[in-house]
Amino acid sequence: MSVIHKGGKLAASQFGDDFLWGVAMAAQQNEGAYNIDGRGLSIWDVFSRRQGKIKGGHKPYEGCDFYYRYKDDLLLARALGFTVFRFSISWPRILPDGTGKVNKEGIAFYNKVIDECLKLGLEPYVTLYHWDLPHALEKEGGWTSYRMTRWFTRYATICAEAFGDRVKNWIILNEPMGFTSLGYMLGKHAPGKTGMSNFLPAIHNAVMCQADGGRVIRDLVPHARIGTTFSCSEVIPYSDRTEDVMAAKRMDILLNRLFVEPALGRGYPKDDFKFLEKLEIHAKAWKYTERMRFNFDFIGLQNYFPIVIKYSPIIPVIQAMEVKAKTRKVPYTGMGWEINGESFYRLIKKFWLYGGVKEIIISENGAAFKDELVNGEVKDEARIAYFQEYLQAVLKAKQEGVNIKGYFAWTLMDNFEWAEGYKARFGLIYVDFATQLRTIKNSGYWFRDFLHKKSK
Ligand code: BGC
Repeated sequence: MSVIHKGGKLAASQFGDDFLWGVAMAAQQNEGAYNIDGRGLSIWDVFSRRQGKIKGGHKPYEGCDFYYRYKDDLLLARALGFTVFRFSISWPRILPDGTGKVNKEGIAFYNKVIDECLKLGLEPYVTLYHWDLPHALEKEGGWTSYRMTRWFTRYATICAEAFGDRVKNWIILNEPMGFTSLGYMLGKHAPGKTGMSNFLPAIHNAVMCQADGGRVIRDLVPHARIGTTFSCSEVIPYSDRTEDVMAAKRMDILLNRLFVEPALGRGYPKDDFKFLEKLEIHAKAWKYTERMRFNFDFIGLQNYFPIVIKYSPIIPVIQAMEVKAKTRKVPYTGMGWEINGESFYRLIKKFWLYGGVKEIIISENGAAFKDELVNGEVKDEARIAYFQEYLQAVLKAKQEGVNIKGYFAWTLMDNFEWAEGYKARFGLIYVDFATQLRTIKNSGYWFRDFLHKKSK
């Protein structure tokens, strides 16, 4: 039975007056100016030079030029009706060598962005780490190094001291499962490392930084609201055969439980997936259960698609493989990601039912499609339908008592979509990367109308 009514009436006012409507972006994907005003190199700047790693050989060097156009872009975000702006700080812009000397011009840039947000009525939500590790630290082992917590704590301290007088909403990490698995296990993202000997310590160091970072902000920023984000996907077994069900369970542990459970004080979910006991060998992890806990004010859920999982004896360790949406006769986005608002609803409920989660913010959700700019217009009706379906899911969960405080659309403008380069367009605003000209897509106008009606 369908739990959400796809064609149903949807109004922003149904979410309540205090619901936060935001738009999200990240430094490496948007700022550009990669070697300007003292910024150091990030792992993505370096990774993108390796042949075949990024589609089209694209580089993140220019992004969508947010470094120079932030005033106009923030104005656009406000004009579309958003009142929250989530962005990340680039670690190598603040500390070009990762540690050591602070780059004053980096601090000055974010001061300008924060002040502009406040001037326009955009509440800043600042992410400390959205995947752009300083290359200098990667040379020392990056996320696999036990020194990571020391490096991260210093970086967080500098940010808290510089911006904490005006920034009250902090997000410690963006999707730790994303950057540890793609970057340190599968080699598809920067820094391109592979294998368990990299993945396991990277997991543990990220879990530690997640909590340590929270404590830094708690100590230094009065009245801070502190959260961290998790990528999450409902994992659906391909069939009810025991092998498929068990394979889906293992995948669920990796995708949905590995980072949130330590934060909630439960340690790693190793009892359900014995393989995770190897974390002990790599990281002496068990004795840190207390330190891995942090009492977050909110958690950020980021969902794009569910996945269907089948048992596969040839895949090492996890023995599971994904059955792609394209082969299953279901609707999917330009990335081949299944569109399924119902699954999003179930996932929100699942995280809520953990217990111990005080508040949920949907800190990212959106879709890429093959957008075309024709006669000054981008008719992205599929994206509008996607947002409507996913927002119905949020509303339904909220009406059933889940404490969901906000929804941040991903993303303001088309930008550098990691290994997909600039071809995958997620923005509410279309960017012509040759001229940097912006055009609001129909989905952007849809948000404007949707949010505008709320204030009437
Ligand atoms: C990341 C974003 C990314 C988006 C779409 C999320 O995993 O946080 O940086 O652009 O997904 O792929």
